Amino acid sequence: MTAQEKRNRACKKLLVDVHAITDKEGLTPSALHAIKLKLVALAGKKELFPLADFEMPVAEGRNHPLLVEDNDGHGLYLTIGLPGKEAAPHDHGIWCVNAAIAGRECHKFFRRTDGMTRPGHASVEQIAEVMVEPGTGMAMSDHDIHSTEVLGDEPAVGLALYGYALVRFPSVAWYQPQFGSIRTTPSRRHAAMA
Ligand SMILES: [Fe+2]
Repeated sequence: MTAQEKRNRACKKLLVDVHAITDKEGLTPSALHAIKLKLVALAGKKELFPLADFEMPVAEGRNHPLLVEDNDGHGLYLTIGLPGKEAAPHDHGIWCVNAAIAGRECHKFFRRTDGMTRPGHASVEQIAEVMVEPGTGMAMSDHDIHSTEVLGDEPAVGLALYGYALVRFPSVAWYQPQFGSIRTTPSRRHAAMA
């Protein structure tokens, strides 16, 4: 069996396990934690993810689809972030679990502190910080807010599992804490209806 065949088999197994967890428990915090542990275990099998099989980003980051389910299911990706890549606080609108294969990415988590009464305005405060590096991961539910930064001089390579495929993503809300503002990207959910 080639590395790719082994990888495909392992990714399919992961999704079978994920569905077994959520069919039983739903998307509770403990279910997301259990999924994270499964993803961390898969990311630990480095031999399944030789970097030669995945093109590096030209700048910033790149996502390589590993397994995208039919029928508006989940999307599993290998993600590569170059040193220094940063993302401002944002909320995906859909749950997400990450696990590191190599490198270090710092995730900060925030909560929204305004009353959501003024369109375009938002304030957030940091509530937690997690270093995603080999042996660790992070999980967030639908409307959790995080920011990311690749630390060190090595690319951050990891696995990312999203509740929906990236091409069928809901609107993502981006927060600019320094301006007290929020903007949203257009939803791609119409692709799920087609
Ligand atoms: Fe994100």
